[in-house]
Amino acid sequence: MKNPLRIGVVGLGTVGAALVGALATNAPLLASRCGRPLIVTAVSARDKNRNRGISLEGIAWFDDPVALAQSPEVDCVVELMGGADGVAKAVVEAALSLGKSVVTANKALLARHGTALVALAEAKGAQLNFEASVAGGIPIVKTLRESLAGNVVTRVSGILNGTCNYILSRMELEGLTFADCLADAQRLGYAEADPTFDVGGFDTAHKLSILTSLAFGTEIDSDAVYVEGIASITPLDLTMADELGYRIKLLGVAERTSTGIEQRVHPTMVPKNWAIAQVMGVTNAVSVLAEPVGELTLVGPGAGGNATASSVLSDLADIARNIHVAPLGVPASALSHGDRAPMQRHEGGYYIRLTVRDRPGAAAGIATRMAEQMISLESIVQKRAAASRMADPAGKSGAPVPVVLITYATSENAIRAALDAVMADGHIAEPPQLIRIERG
Ligand code: HSE
Repeated sequence: MKNPLRIGVVGLGTVGAALVGALATNAPLLASRCGRPLIVTAVSARDKNRNRGISLEGIAWFDDPVALAQSPEVDCVVELMGGADGVAKAVVEAALSLGKSVVTANKALLARHGTALVALAEAKGAQLNFEASVAGGIPIVKTLRESLAGNVVTRVSGILNGTCNYILSRMELEGLTFADCLADAQRLGYAEADPTFDVGGFDTAHKLSILTSLAFGTEIDSDAVYVEGIASITPLDLTMADELGYRIKLLGVAERTSTGIEQRVHPTMVPKNWAIAQVMGVTNAVSVLAEPVGELTLVGPGAGGNATASSVLSDLADIARNIHVAPLGVPASALSHGDRAPMQRHEGGYYIRLTVRDRPGAAAGIATRMAEQMISLESIVQKRAAASRMADPAGKSGAPVPVVLITYATSENAIRAALDAVMADGHIAEPPQLIRIERG
């Protein structure tokens, strides 16, 4: 058998520990498939004495992860520290500069510096593999880069954050609060170190920017992603969605439109009978629309140690087998800048929840503002508790009451202009809730 691939692992959190365990457990299988053993020769993490449930016997410990990357006992570095800058970036650059291949799960790093790091890897003849950076255990990076190499992709969309899908699913099915669900997601190891990355939509945006580059041959441009998180979603929104035949999911969507490439992350109402609406809990799903293949959807575990370790193993196997491909599908020098489609030009249906001062003329005033922007309403639902009706039988009190509007397809510009006018008219007591609807 050929020389072993000597691996240095930087970061021994949930994923790092699962990876070291899996490399030990599956060592014979990997050696026979790759034609050479894959062995961990070095590790680095913050706390040497923490019990991680894995054996580190015979593995060199480095307090300095950059020194690990430079060690002559390490052929290939796995970066599992996270963070867009700082030590993670220094480790990856140190390894690539020496021509050592790198495997990373670090979507924040790739979102910000991915194009430059790929260029460095290519210049040094090293491989930079990042299957684990998007959708945990789902092999979407290789699917786009390799399996669909002969396709023209027009759209990539999906549920890319396990924590958000877990929270929305439990809020909907069990009527729990956002805070309880988030605490459970953290306990289970799904959430990022700073969970605002998850619930604010930024983690999804990082992943989407990587998929966009792979799908459209563009430089990674995370600044071009329009981002909204799930923190504003209320139990009432989930109930209303259910009554109207939808589920609310945090979707990332990258699409080639007539105005350019649209990249957007926001809570989205999807019809309940769509496959993506059935995806619950920490599970992720990614759909790709491409020619000639048509539409395909990959569903699987999007977070957690074992699922993410599975993707890292696949990247390591490629390195052990000496498989070289341009990490972003085309050489870095051939990536285009990509035309950003402005979000104001986005078109689709909208769910609008208004907290309306309940008095004569309010509904008519709101409808007028919508009509002025040529927005056609598909439905209007006003929810008023029986007790309030008894207290104000003539409906003149001006007490705030939820009103939900569903629009036919319109533009983001028109919706924003109509809602600005509604707010200026003084009909609503709180800022409006806006959720985009996907109808296909
Ligand atoms: N925090 C991420 C998630 C982990 O919840 O999906 C996987 O990237």
